[in-house]
Amino acid sequence: MRTIPFGLPLIGDEEKAAVAAVLDSPILVHGPRAKQFETEFAAWTGAPRAVAVSSCTAALHLAYFDLGIGPGDEVIVPAQTHNATAHAVAFTGAKPVFVDCELATGNIDIPQIEAALTPNTKAISIVHFLGLPVAMDQVMAIARKHSLFVVEDCALALGTYYKGRHAGLWGDAGCFSFYPVKHMTTAEGGMFITRHADLADRIERKRAFGVDRTPQERSIPGVYDVTLLGFNYRMNEIEAALGSVQLKRMKGFMDQRRRNYQTLHAGLSELEELRLFSHPPEDAVSSYYCLSVLLRDDLRPQRVEIVEKLKQQGVGTSVYYPRPVPHFTWYREKFGYAQNSFPNAASISYGSIALPVGPHLNEEDMLYIARAVKKALREVHS
Ligand SMILES: Cc1ncc(COP(=O)(O)O)c(C=O)c1O
Repeated sequence: MRTIPFGLPLIGDEEKAAVAAVLDSPILVHGPRAKQFETEFAAWTGAPRAVAVSSCTAALHLAYFDLGIGPGDEVIVPAQTHNATAHAVAFTGAKPVFVDCELATGNIDIPQIEAALTPNTKAISIVHFLGLPVAMDQVMAIARKHSLFVVEDCALALGTYYKGRHAGLWGDAGCFSFYPVKHMTTAEGGMFITRHADLADRIERKRAFGVDRTPQERSIPGVYDVTLLGFNYRMNEIEAALGSVQLKRMKGFMDQRRRNYQTLHAGLSELEELRLFSHPPEDAVSSYYCLSVLLRDDLRPQRVEIVEKLKQQGVGTSVYYPRPVPHFTWYREKFGYAQNSFPNAASISYGSIALPVGPHLNEEDMLYIARAVKKALREVHS
């Protein structure tokens, strides 16, 4: 039997040496490595500016914090996402106004965005669900028409392109995650990218207490001013050193992910018990975070049993995401969202199983997973 974890960080000798070099140096924070990683990440994505931060959640929070929104303001948020996407709005006191997703992609249903706008709406948050790009030109047309700020949550979208432009560069801000099961890792960590130089300048300050100059810029230690309100959301040198090495491996990671996804997709596409999400359109590139399968309605009550049968065969799975965010207790209690709202997001949350396609696996593993899924489905039928 194979053992196939859902996600596994690929940490090699080069990552270990890079981390050891930081530990042997006197600078653990505020050093050259975070700066270098920012430059490399900007070049990789084509971003004019990148600011390294402590997590994707921190990047999202900084975006809304800088926008200056608060109680009485509203932000459009996809119902089908990680709760961090919505928490980042709620931290400011503004209200996340959820919008359902398309069943075919899991991405926000764009026509429903305009219907959810009110005079209090200040921003739209976009999530490229499982790395499949949202039609950003359509989102930006709505944003321009109503003068709204756009934040792209790209936690699962490193390597996602729409019409030749990397995810995160259509909107005003793009926020990435380097949590261990993501496309590359820095253990914990995130990146903020933007097309706006003034925004990047403020985010650099606001991630580090709002101090007006970095330690390198201080000719006399201790002489600085605090000109902005800010957090401690920095990325440290250990994380940045890991990030630089992982980024060099990204092309190989992406190629393997794509091959794995295509092999698994072909292996499962004939099964009438499952529905698979759409392929990206021709002018778009997915980052292929995982392959999520939607169970036929009559099989949904047996989802846990199917997951258990996959586990018995050594196949790790996950669920993206366990509930539509407005169904979580905190959101229901705070904003009064009903448990039966957002039917498409609910259908995905309660009826899907996410299968692994990460670069820790190969095509043989994919054929094994396809066989394991078929066996599990046969067993729950009988
Ligand atoms: C869509 C989305 N946004 C944000 C996050 C949070 O990322 P981080 O753990 O880097 O804060 C996640 C984590 O999985 C996510 O899936």
